[in-house]
Amino acid sequence: MSTAISPTAYNYKVVRQFAIMTVVWGILGMGLGVFIASQLVWPQLNLDLPWTSFGRLRPLHTNLVIFAFGGCALFGTSYYVVQRTCQTRLISDSMAAFTFWGWQAVIVGALITLPMGYTTTKEYAELEWPLAILLAIVWVTYGLVFFGTIVKRKTKHIYVGNWFYGAFIVVTAMLHIVNHISLPVSLFKSYSAYAGATDAMIQWWYGHNAVGFFLTTGFLGMMYYFVPKQAERPIYSYRLSIVHFWALITLYIWAGPHHLHYTALPDWAQSLGMVMSIILLAPSWGGMINGMMTLSGAWHKLRTDPILRFLVVSLAFYGMSTFEGPMMAIKTVTSLSHYPDWTIGHVHAGALGWVAMISIGAVYHMIPRLYGRAQMHSVGLINAHFWLATIGTVLYIASMWVNGITQGLMWRAINDDGTLTYSFVEALQASHPGYIVRALGGAFFASGMLLMAYNVFRTVRAANPVEADEAAKIVVVGAH
Ligand code: HEM
Ligand code: HEM
Repeated sequence: MSTAISPTAYNYKVVRQFAIMTVVWGILGMGLGVFIASQLVWPQLNLDLPWTSFGRLRPLHTNLVIFAFGGCALFGTSYYVVQRTCQTRLISDSMAAFTFWGWQAVIVGALITLPMGYTTTKEYAELEWPLAILLAIVWVTYGLVFFGTIVKRKTKHIYVGNWFYGAFIVVTAMLHIVNHISLPVSLFKSYSAYAGATDAMIQWWYGHNAVGFFLTTGFLGMMYYFVPKQAERPIYSYRLSIVHFWALITLYIWAGPHHLHYTALPDWAQSLGMVMSIILLAPSWGGMINGMMTLSGAWHKLRTDPILRFLVVSLAFYGMSTFEGPMMAIKTVTSLSHYPDWTIGHVHAGALGWVAMISIGAVYHMIPRLYGRAQMHSVGLINAHFWLATIGTVLYIASMWVNGITQGLMWRAINDDGTLTYSFVEALQASHPGYIVRALGGAFFASGMLLMAYNVFRTVRAANPVEADEAAKIVVVGAH
């Protein structure tokens, strides 16, 4: 067995930058979530100003939590994972730095333009064309850095986590570029190249796969690295992970029409989307079970390791939301769930329970390693964060289930003479307690992020990054 030590350390600088910004954007995006949730309780909080109105701040919330918080977590962890599993440094430091600063520039652009009311009006693709082009350039550079690093890897295999990250990068580029094809008429206004039902279909092909590839596949890449690492166990079944990968990416791309049930979209397309969504339960649960079973023999660690708890509970919420999703895709269920708060609850079961929790666990895992510390400053604070996040998520989704079903049933209730039983305002009044509980749950979740910021700050301040860089020197073992 031969051991050669290469002088090249991993590029941890860019990972550190993305990890810190994950926490910063998390606080801002979720803080804004609490604010807009409060606007739905106390409408006076719209402040009678256009740029602080719910309609403008809501897309800012979604952009900040998905692209700023989730995006930074994905960039940071993918750069960390690809270097460590390929035992090589990122292919280019300057290109990696460009992706960091370019991505932050896109987000700052969103922070300025969305409250001003500049929007394409397409959900999750609101940014007007100059920002959309910048985003595309940053993304293509990201792809070059990621795949370039894979090409120059020192390992024989490409670890499965990288397959998931790779698919997320390729498909996100495809979705973003195709959905944004438009005709600019001024610096801040463009019109989609597609018309009518085609535009709607392209938008929800994009929208659903933004969920499937941005909010799911990328985070599964994270799961496949950080769960085994934190549990100190190999992944339960490598074979299952490969089946999981191919089944998931083959099916997801067909499910978009479930967002367009009962619309002008041809019936066959709606039914196809519905069927594909139901089948999607299988690979989703395959992945969830693979992650959970990785803890075989390590379950006792959950008693003492709150980071592992974040990771495992995120998998439980992933399982829950990927059970709920296929049910909601059934047309008769959609007819009840589409407009009311049920969908909002489903979204946040995935967003808070899965996306945010797995990202938080991964960042807690990385920070001490990135800054040359044995562990985070306070394990007790991680534990407190875990409970705030879990209770916050449960309050959020339970209140939205109650509100969703109440609203759905009240809206469709009809008297014998065919008139509506309840006015819209009556359903709104019935929703008020749920909105209060949701805002409270959100405040729990967001305050957990403040504990995280303090904990990260103390860990970083006490740390020695040079030591971390030394530790990151690559040890290439010739024969394993
Ligand atoms: C403290 C945490 C959060 C709170 C209080 C919160 C609150 C809200 C509120 C009030 C809405 C608007 C609901 C409506 O229109 O009726 C919303 C929408 C949304 N939020 Fe959050 N949110 C939080 C965290 C997150 C996170 C972490 C993500 C993603 C990773 C996320 C993703 C979304 C999405 C995708 C929507 C739009 C849903 C749809 O159109 O169906 N949120 N959020
Ligand atoms: C097998 C997995 C899943 C399926 C089949 C599925 C299905 C659905 C369905 C049927 C809807 C409602 C569509 C409508 O009535 O307009 C929906 C909405 C949504 N889901 Fe899922 N879901 C799944 C997993 C997830 C996960 C894991 C997340 C998040 C992280 C997520 C995020 C969302 C979002 C953001 C929306 C709201 C879209 C909008 O703005 O209208 N879903 N999903």
